Amino acid sequence: MSILTVPTQPYTDQVPGTSGLRKRVGTFRQPNYIENFVQALLDTAAQQSGGPLALVLGGDGRYLNREAIAVVLQMAAANGVRRVVVGRDGILSTPAASHLIRKRELSGGIILSASHNPGGPEGDFGIKYNIGNGGPAPEAFTAAVAARAAAITQYRRTELEPVPLDRLGETRLGELTVEVVDPVADWASLMESLFDFDGMRDLFRQGFRMRFDAMHAVTGPYAREVFERRLGASPGSVVNAEPSPDFGGGHPDPNLAHAESLVRELFGPDAPDLGAASDGDGDRNMILGRGTFVTPSDSLAVLAANAGLAPGYSWGLAGIARSMPTSSAADRVAERLGITCYETPTGWKFFGNLMDAGRVTLCGEESFGTGSNHIREKDGLWAVLFWLNILARRRISVAQLVQEHWQEYGRNYYARHDYEGIPVEAARGVMDHLRWQLTSLAGRRAGEREVKGADEFVYVDPVDQSFSSGQGLRVLFHDGSRIVARQSGTGTVGATLRLYFEAVETDPDRLNLNPREVLAPLMSLAGDVMELSARTGMTAPTVET
Ligand code: G1P
Ligand code: ZN
Repeated sequence: MSILTVPTQPYTDQVPGTSGLRKRVGTFRQPNYIENFVQALLDTAAQQSGGPLALVLGGDGRYLNREAIAVVLQMAAANGVRRVVVGRDGILSTPAASHLIRKRELSGGIILSASHNPGGPEGDFGIKYNIGNGGPAPEAFTAAVAARAAAITQYRRTELEPVPLDRLGETRLGELTVEVVDPVADWASLMESLFDFDGMRDLFRQGFRMRFDAMHAVTGPYAREVFERRLGASPGSVVNAEPSPDFGGGHPDPNLAHAESLVRELFGPDAPDLGAASDGDGDRNMILGRGTFVTPSDSLAVLAANAGLAPGYSWGLAGIARSMPTSSAADRVAERLGITCYETPTGWKFFGNLMDAGRVTLCGEESFGTGSNHIREKDGLWAVLFWLNILARRRISVAQLVQEHWQEYGRNYYARHDYEGIPVEAARGVMDHLRWQLTSLAGRRAGEREVKGADEFVYVDPVDQSFSSGQGLRVLFHDGSRIVARQSGTGTVGATLRLYFEAVETDPDRLNLNPREVLAPLMSLAGDVMELSARTGMTAPTVET
C-alpha cells in the first residue's frame, strides 16, 4: 500500500475542551488543520492502547462531516488502524457512537460534531474522541493530544481511493477494514431492551399525539425509526427529520429560545400531548407537554421518581448524579429512595467514573442533558422514550405528572442566563469581583430568602480521588435556594458567563407562581454583587432558558 508522509505545521490552538476540539469551520479549513489533529489523536490513542486500534467513526452530518470522514479513513489506513466501524453516509449520533464502541468492545471512537452549535460554512465544526468505555476522553488524554498537535511536523495518509459509504458491509482500504453499518439499528435495539415498547404502542393506538423536532440535525432518522416505525406514532410526528449540513440555517439547540416553533405549537391551540426536540448530535433533549415546559432539572427528578415503570430500570437505581448547577430537585427524590445523589462539576465526563463504578444509574445536567448507564454519553431520544414509557403506564398528561411531582417533592423554580461573547477580561473581572466577596455575602437577602454562605465549588471524584477546582461560584440560601455563576468551557468566541437561579418552594400553595417573579429577587441580588452591566456593558443576557 502506498503511504504518504506529508509535512505539516504544528498548531498550538488544538486544545480539546470538555467536548473535543470545537472551532469555527474557517479554522478547520486551514492547511492540514484536520490532518494535524487527527494524527495527534491517532498517535495518542495508539500509545494508550496495547495493540492496533479499532474505532467507531461518524458525525452529525454538519458541514465538513464528509470531508473529515474521508481524511480520517485515509489516515487510519496509513497509521495501522485495524478496523473502522463507520455509520452509513458518515452519520452517527453521539449516543449511537457511544453504544457502538461499548457493544463492539472497540478501542474508542472519533465523533465529528460541534453539538448544539450552528453549522454551515460560517458555523462550527468539531472533532471529539471517546474512549473504550464509550465516554468522552479524560483530561489526561486530551492534554496529551494537544501537546502532540503542537509538536508534530508530519502526518501519514494513504493514496488509495476513498471507499463508498452509502452501502452496508466491509471494504478494505489497504490493511484497514472499513465496516459501514446502519447508524440506527443497534441503538434502536438497545432502546427496545430498556423500555416498554408494547405499552407505548398501545398509547399511540389510543390516539396519543407527539411532535418531535429533529431540528434538521442527526436525530431525524433515529426518531422516525423508533417513534413512527416501531411505535406507530402517526407519520409526520417527527419534523425537520432530514439531517442538513447547516441544520436548515437554524441553531440546533433544544431550548425555549432555539426550538421556537415547537414551543409555539405546544403552547398553541390543538397542541399535541408531548413535544420534544434534540440537538445537533442527538445527546440533548427538551421535553414539553401541552402548555407545559419541563425544566431539565425537573425532568431528571421525574424520571428518577418513576424509573420503576421502565423495564430496564425496574430493579431500582444505584444512585443519581447531577451537575452542580442543575437544581436539587433530584436530590429530594434520591433521599426518598434512600440512594445517593452525587453533585459533580459541569460536563458529562464526570459521570463516567461513577457509572463505571456502578454507583449511579441516572445522570442529568440543567443544560438539557439526561442519560443513564446504558451508554457513557447523554442521550436525547432515550429521555423522550423514558417520558413516553412513563406516560404510557400512568396515562396522565405531562402537566399532571409534573404537578403531582411538585405536590410530593416541592418545586425548584429555575432559570439560566447566558452572557455570550463578552471580552475575556471582563468575564474574568466579574468572576474575580464575586470571588473576593464570597466570605461577606452571608446575611444578605433576596426577598424573603437569606444567604447562608457562599463558596467556590471543588470536586473530589469519589472513585479515583481526582481533584477539580474552580468549578463555579455558589451563593447558598438557608432554604436550599441558590445563585450559581460559572464561565462556560464550550464557547467558541470570547467568553460566556452563565448565571443560574434556583428557588426552592415546598408550600403547596406556592407551586404555581410565575417563575420570573419568584426568581426576580435572586436576579437582582446577583446584579448588585456582580456588577454585571457595569463590567460587561450588557444590560440583559443573550439567552435565557
Ligand atoms: C455546556 C453545558 C454543560 C454540557 C456541555 C457539553 O458546557 O453547560 O452542561 O455538558 O455544554 O454539552 P459549558 O459551556 O457551560 O461549559
Ligand atoms: Zn450535543
